[in-house]
Amino acid sequence: MTDIVDPAIEAYAESHTTAPPDLLEAVASETRSTLKAPGMMVGRIEGRFLELLVFGTGAVSILEIGTFSGYSALAMAAGLVPGGSIVTCEIDPVHAEIARRHIAASPYADRIDVMVGPALGTIASLPGPFDLVFMDADKSGYLAYYEAVLAKLSPRGLIVADNTLWSGRILDPTDTSADTQALRAFNDKVATDPRVVAVVTTVRDGVTMIRRAG
Ligand SMILES: C[S@@+](CC[C@H](N)C(=O)[O-])C[C@H]1O[C@@H](n2cnc3c(N)ncnc32)[C@H](O)[C@@H]1O
Repeated sequence: MTDIVDPAIEAYAESHTTAPPDLLEAVASETRSTLKAPGMMVGRIEGRFLELLVFGTGAVSILEIGTFSGYSALAMAAGLVPGGSIVTCEIDPVHAEIARRHIAASPYADRIDVMVGPALGTIASLPGPFDLVFMDADKSGYLAYYEAVLAKLSPRGLIVADNTLWSGRILDPTDTSADTQALRAFNDKVATDPRVVAVVTTVRDGVTMIRRAG
């Protein structure tokens, strides 16, 4: 991943962010040694960012789109209020198996449910409302996920979309790949959608936060 933040600043921010607990180190270690693209994990800074967002908003019902090996779901679980829960969607059974094993070994087994299958189908099967939705699956699906979850967002709910600056490729006119085009279309839609208020932050690879307007 190309850095969008000065690497020295990113390293300083990381070293001054509370270290991950052992259970997240175990997820990260297994992911790095067994899975392709371990960089898909949100990691230390964004993991703590999500945990504090969950803690600060008091979100009770959380939906995650894109589990991978469970790092972000477990990071968010650490900020959950008692009685809160996370449903996380994953299409790849190998990823889901790793995530489920680490979740089962964590103190959050009763709060995280991994649902295997295409996320759009899973979302359609869930009534909501969701207090926080973390969107981090296939980039070509972002616009459809956005429409599907906006309809099920609680009145003070937040959608949090990852990778929206796409290692800076979002600005590269020579990059016309499907994922980059999909992220541009998503960012353009959100920025001009009168139904929402949004901010694009430069946390890690770009994290966009969205709430309903009004
Ligand atoms: C960027 S990774 C998620 C990383 C995870 N949030 C973390 O921080 O560890 C994206 C995940 O979405 C999954 N995925 C891709 N397309 C999907 C779909 N249509 N429905 C559900 N999951 C999907 C991939 O298999 C992959 O595990």
